[in-house]
Amino acid sequence: MSLLIKNGEIVTADGRAHADVLCEGETVTRIGTNLEAPTGARVIDATGKYVFPGFIDPHVHVHLPFMGTFSKDTHATASQAALVGGTTTFIEMCAPSRHDDLLEGYAQWKEMAEGQSACDYAFHMAVPRFDDRAAAQLREVVADGTTSFKVFLAYKDFFGVDDDELFGALTLARELGVITTAHAENADLIAKLQARLLAEGKTGPEWHEPSRPVSVEADGVHHFATFLEATGARGYVVHLSCAAALDAALAARRRGVSLAIEVVAPHLLLDASYAERPDFEGAKWVMSPPLRTKADARALWHALQAGLIDTVGTDHAPFDAGEQKVMGKGDFTKIPNGIPGIEERVKLLYTYGVSRGKLDLHRFVASASTNAAKLFGLFPRKGTIAVGADADLVVWDPAQRSIISAADHVMNVDYSGFEGMEVDGRADLVSVRGVVQVEDGRFVGAPGRGQLLRREPEHV
Ligand code: URP
Ligand code: ZN
Ligand code: ZN
Repeated sequence: MSLLIKNGEIVTADGRAHADVLCEGETVTRIGTNLEAPTGARVIDATGKYVFPGFIDPHVHVHLPFMGTFSKDTHATASQAALVGGTTTFIEMCAPSRHDDLLEGYAQWKEMAEGQSACDYAFHMAVPRFDDRAAAQLREVVADGTTSFKVFLAYKDFFGVDDDELFGALTLARELGVITTAHAENADLIAKLQARLLAEGKTGPEWHEPSRPVSVEADGVHHFATFLEATGARGYVVHLSCAAALDAALAARRRGVSLAIEVVAPHLLLDASYAERPDFEGAKWVMSPPLRTKADARALWHALQAGLIDTVGTDHAPFDAGEQKVMGKGDFTKIPNGIPGIEERVKLLYTYGVSRGKLDLHRFVASASTNAAKLFGLFPRKGTIAVGADADLVVWDPAQRSIISAADHVMNVDYSGFEGMEVDGRADLVSVRGVVQVEDGRFVGAPGRGQLLRREPEHV
């Protein structure tokens, strides 16, 4: 089976050309002008459109047992939402808690995704506990091709690790050639601040941000970086939200620490005032780290523009406003943390980055696809358009306009954090390894086509 995409403008992280792309089987086999269609090929006319490499979301929660409930998506719904938005690969946090068996958790996540995901996927393996047994199990996980870890410095007694464990996990990561991603907030300080606010009768969602101020995150980033420095491990800070944490990360880099930086769509586009909306509506925008000030968002955009931030993910974490966020009425510490977004990330970044003149097309592709592929062992199979790469392609129509609404989204969650925002562009056609999964912006494909991507460790 072959697919020929003609007359589009191919844009990658470092190149741009008007050319045709021929996909045969699962890979790109030719790029050139005036390519002839092989017999039986499907030909797509992409005149006036961009052809981008499939986008990669490096931070997604699909199955997430958290704060007494479970995130709402299934691998079927999340992957179809991803594809409709132009994301052809996501990396999910495989997140058993401290009280679960690591390998059982890993098997469970794999089983839930297999045959259900319509796009390709990989896992970051959470390390919620570290001891000899966990170390032996993590070796098995890495041998199975899952070559990135996740540590939480927050969420003490559930996902969180202590300093002994952090040191052990990073030492093992260094030995195995694995990159470690981290949620970096000081857990002890959060607990103290939460208790103080509640004692003062400050119980609404607007108090979530003051319970986790920017200093708590900057401290977490500095702490993580210090441990990376001591162990020589490679690190990646997830959902960095504010200027203070950015300063801590960049300072670490300047002293030679290997630390990549991820931001997520909510921190770029929303601010703390959303969580202050009356009648508990603010709970929809409770996530950790919290939404910050407009000045913080501006600092993130500047750093992204300057190439100081590596990736833009979502931290997709779908909890219904109606049944789940309300669990925290009367106590903001019980509001399930998270905002959905896997479907909307690419459009939002295109609109508020490219269309608004903040990002050029190459930086856009790099931060939404290529850099994640490089950091997480998927490049050049994913993250670019080149002969031999997987035929994960997005034919993007920049002329389309729409308004984000939960009324027509594919994600299995009852609200959108970006409701009412106007967006430019649409993923008209999306292929996963040569098979068309989205046409005219709608999922038309094979529900279980996605594969678990096995990756190799990297010793640098
Ligand atoms: O609020 C968030 N971010 N929820 C999902 C879990 C996490 O910390 O990534
Ligand atoms: Zn997190
Ligand atoms: Zn997350």
